[in-house]
Amino acid sequence: MNAQRVKIGIVGLGVVGMGVARALRRNRAVIRARAGAGVDVRWAAEVDRKRLAASGLPPECCTGDYRAVLSDPEVQIVVEVVGGTGVAREVVLGALRAGKHVVTANKALLAKHWPEVFTLAHERGCAVGFEASVMAGVPVIRGLQEGLAGNAVQSLFGILNGTTNFVLTRMARGLEFDAALAEAREKGLAEADASLDIDGHDAAQKLAILGSISTGKWLPPSDVAREGIGHVERYDIAEAREQFGYALRLLAVFKDRGDRVEARVHPTFVPLSHPLAAVENEFNALLVNGDTAGPITFSGRGAGERPAASGVVSDIVNIARSLHQSGGRMTYVPMRPSAERALVIPLDEVQSKFYLRFSVVDRPRVLAFLAGALGERDVSIATCHQRGRSETGGAVPVVVVTHAARGGAIREALAEIDGRADFVKRKTVAIRIEE
Ligand code: HSE
Repeated sequence: MNAQRVKIGIVGLGVVGMGVARALRRNRAVIRARAGAGVDVRWAAEVDRKRLAASGLPPECCTGDYRAVLSDPEVQIVVEVVGGTGVAREVVLGALRAGKHVVTANKALLAKHWPEVFTLAHERGCAVGFEASVMAGVPVIRGLQEGLAGNAVQSLFGILNGTTNFVLTRMARGLEFDAALAEAREKGLAEADASLDIDGHDAAQKLAILGSISTGKWLPPSDVAREGIGHVERYDIAEAREQFGYALRLLAVFKDRGDRVEARVHPTFVPLSHPLAAVENEFNALLVNGDTAGPITFSGRGAGERPAASGVVSDIVNIARSLHQSGGRMTYVPMRPSAERALVIPLDEVQSKFYLRFSVVDRPRVLAFLAGALGERDVSIATCHQRGRSETGGAVPVVVVTHAARGGAIREALAEIDGRADFVKRKTVAIRIEE
């Protein structure tokens, strides 16, 4: 094999695939200098002929059938940018079976099929680059795997989804949820099915990948406790900001608790002085606490054509460099997954401070009842605030911030409180707080 030229096949010419083709062309010289070898696109596979034509690649490099890429012995790296877990899985597994290295931006596929993909890669001596799968161009994967390789990761706090961060930031400025989401869609941030963003699936998949790297065990995305932002109201965003100095973020949290881990994605209030409160719009950030390095923050654009292409191309360069240095043999195989699964602590056992907004009739003894239902379960109240006054029996918001309490205690207390239809007029809003 010619180590001076590395041949790749790109499968999928959507936003990311097109960005990769363009970045390889635009930065040809710098890529060659860093890899020590030229990178040639031997194939681009895409079922949509219009996209093939728009790619600017010569017709002899274009195909509608990804199998042409997998069966070409000249192709050393297959770049899977199809997305999803259907054809993409065939592409990734097929490429590895054919002894080809893989670069993928596919968080859904990797999070779900982690042991299968990495076991096969290890057996075949192939690399799987997946820098763009989490935070696109922000190098958190290599940061954890290489830069922080000497650390036990104690915790991760991330804003890993650009769409929801965009929506929450816009809502904090007074925009309605639907209008904010429409704007995120127009900017090309959202997944084709935006419920993957809004319901927290996308962030949970990304946290599963980061958690799997951190523990060395597989953290399946279905084990990540997940709550989205679909039910978030502007009232709570404004109230928590004004009264308590909090900003709302969809936070992805991972904590190493010895033989078990915390892994959760949910709307979370953080103090306005917290570094993650300063992360606005489509920006992503990850705060890593390593036992040796201490706290480290990564941040940048986690979505969009160029940021995603940046992550993908960095993996191509890395693999091409390794191939070049070892005369066509791959010496750099990043990881061997453990067959073990990470044990996740149930959300009921996880302690946090809580913001609670009750909608209750304004009359004596109501507050005593709320405090009693919480106190009986060892939930201690830090602050209580009633907004307005209703002498006509209407409901008023009563906001309580608790001291650290078990999720299960809050759940049980709210079940009792919300069962009192005589004076509780709507379901209580409960949002965790991370200091
Ligand atoms: N829909 C994702 C986001 C794109 O909003 O962050 C990148 O994974």
